[in-house]
Amino acid sequence: MLNSKLNGEVYFPSAEVLKNATIKDWEQLNKKALDNYEEFWSELASELHWFKKWDRVIEDSEKPFYKWFTGGKTNIVYNCLDVHVNTHRRNKLALIWEGENGDSKTFSYYALHRETCKFANVLKSMGVQKGDRVTIYMGRVPEIVIAMLACARIGAVHSVVYGGFSVESLAERIEDSNSKVLIVADGAYQRGKIVQLKQIADEALQRCGTVEHVLVVKRTGQEINMESGRDMWYHELMNLPIAIQNNTLEEVDSEYPLFILYTSGTTGKPKAILHTHGGYMVGIYATLKYVFDIHDDDRYWCAADPGWITGHSYIVYGPLLNGATSFMYEGAPNFPYPNRWWQIIEKYGINILYTAPTAIRGLMRFGEAWVNRHNLSSLRLLGTVGEPINPEAWKWYYNVVGKGKCPIMDTWWQTETGMFMITPMPCVPLKPGSGSRPFPGIVMDVVDEKGNSVQANEEGYLVIKTPWPAMIRTVWKDSERYISQYWSRYPGMYLTGDSARKDEDGYFWIIGRVDDVIKVSGYRLGTAEIESALVSHNTVAEAAAIGLPHEVKGNAIYAYVILRTGVEKSPALIDELRQHVSHEVGPIAKPEHIEFVDALPKTRSGKIMRRVLKAKALGQDPGNLSTLEE
Ligand code: WT7
Repeated sequence: MLNSKLNGEVYFPSAEVLKNATIKDWEQLNKKALDNYEEFWSELASELHWFKKWDRVIEDSEKPFYKWFTGGKTNIVYNCLDVHVNTHRRNKLALIWEGENGDSKTFSYYALHRETCKFANVLKSMGVQKGDRVTIYMGRVPEIVIAMLACARIGAVHSVVYGGFSVESLAERIEDSNSKVLIVADGAYQRGKIVQLKQIADEALQRCGTVEHVLVVKRTGQEINMESGRDMWYHELMNLPIAIQNNTLEEVDSEYPLFILYTSGTTGKPKAILHTHGGYMVGIYATLKYVFDIHDDDRYWCAADPGWITGHSYIVYGPLLNGATSFMYEGAPNFPYPNRWWQIIEKYGINILYTAPTAIRGLMRFGEAWVNRHNLSSLRLLGTVGEPINPEAWKWYYNVVGKGKCPIMDTWWQTETGMFMITPMPCVPLKPGSGSRPFPGIVMDVVDEKGNSVQANEEGYLVIKTPWPAMIRTVWKDSERYISQYWSRYPGMYLTGDSARKDEDGYFWIIGRVDDVIKVSGYRLGTAEIESALVSHNTVAEAAAIGLPHEVKGNAIYAYVILRTGVEKSPALIDELRQHVSHEVGPIAKPEHIEFVDALPKTRSGKIMRRVLKAKALGQDPGNLSTLEE
């Protein structure tokens, strides 16, 4: 493709950017990957350590249960830590952490390896064995990284629950994963206040019965309940003779489970997405290497939370696989002042910043003077993820934060994809609001109801037509759901759940979710979770939740509630219900607004027609109502 022929508003890479970029010719790399897909991935896999080399790159005899690097033996943590400890990176910083209250900690590769080995031995002494699930529920503190790595090191399967979730969400995830061990923090700092993580966990544990040991990380030092015989302090365990730095490590098969991560889907309860050691490792290693073009002396900051896939892939595993220095900040971007992030970039000399459109829009509201107080000249690359970025926010990010010299990597991917799927690289011309084209070798398309490609610029369903190494392996304990959710609509194509357009240059433009998933501040929530939380309140008979456009959050939750007979409608009850959702699911799910109604639009089979509610709220035409019952 000739660059000069691109349509629309295009930002070309500068000579400086091209000079720094490891990959200078995207077309060539893409061609190489398309011509020999297996060899492309096999070469990248060879850059990592395998205890035994794989026999086959892709095994598709049981599709859609694809397998990658079968016959190989590895352990992702060996490649994250041990490999570097034996090189010039031994004393290089692996992790720099700053607490919201100003505390800070650093870990060299040597130190992170040591802490991980010690904690791996602690877990073993608690009876955690290969294949066991361990639930982790913490804020953004270094111990969450250590806990994840320690689990993976001994072949245990971690299930991280985002610290912004609350009682019912946590209980449900512990129960479904059947975890015997829970690792939790006493609390987390957020916007100057303490989130009572341990208290929430105690309440959750009353609702589920699998956990035998609770290991508690001291972050805030506040008084908390410690149940004797069940709860133990992390720091005390780490000082016992059992916490030794021997090299306990399981050499696992490529396809051995690494983690499960719950995410919201179309219906019912959140489902656990399974990722495995080998393919996931290769996928995120390669994508981070090429897209954020990690240089050995870079300081890279992914401002997401380890509790979501972005944090798993690109705070924890990806940077460590690349031997990078990863920075993590505990708190809110505007605490105590709206310059906190810019101060951090200046203080640590951050070179790469990866965040979400909602954060950019939020900071944009405070005005550029807050940014301009700081020297941000260390920045080389910027990134965004989680929802479509509106061109205004893109331009502010590009001009005000990046001073017009840092390309923005708009990365489209999902919990299920594990790695970036639609993304530019520094050498790729950018169009604000588009993530450009799929990662080299990956074939994606926009199709109609029948699965045929639509014309350029026409809206349709976004699908993936090639298997990729970090792909979801199955829905934990529910392979039926894996097939029905992702592979049954169009045989041979993975259904993303998004709608999109592809322009005449092959650039993809994401429109949004087409299912009952709402993206609030980039967080993925299911209407079903919000509705079931509402219905669990003793005044509610029925509920429907929808997402409506919101300036900063992208979408905000609106809920429609039918009260039980005899219950009085009142503003106080609205507050109580919003609070109830926050307590059950988490503050991120708290509805912006609740409206009491007498009936809900339903199909004859009883399914709530959320699109009708949405149209009504927006004053739009509700479209085809032929299936509406009344
Ligand atoms: C959904 C997946 C994987 C990172 C965090 C979200 C939306 C993600 C983009 C982007 C437009 C995006 C999609 C996708 N999404 N990145 N760059 N542009 N939309 O993971 O929670 O599994 O959500 O996030 O709708 O399906 P997730």
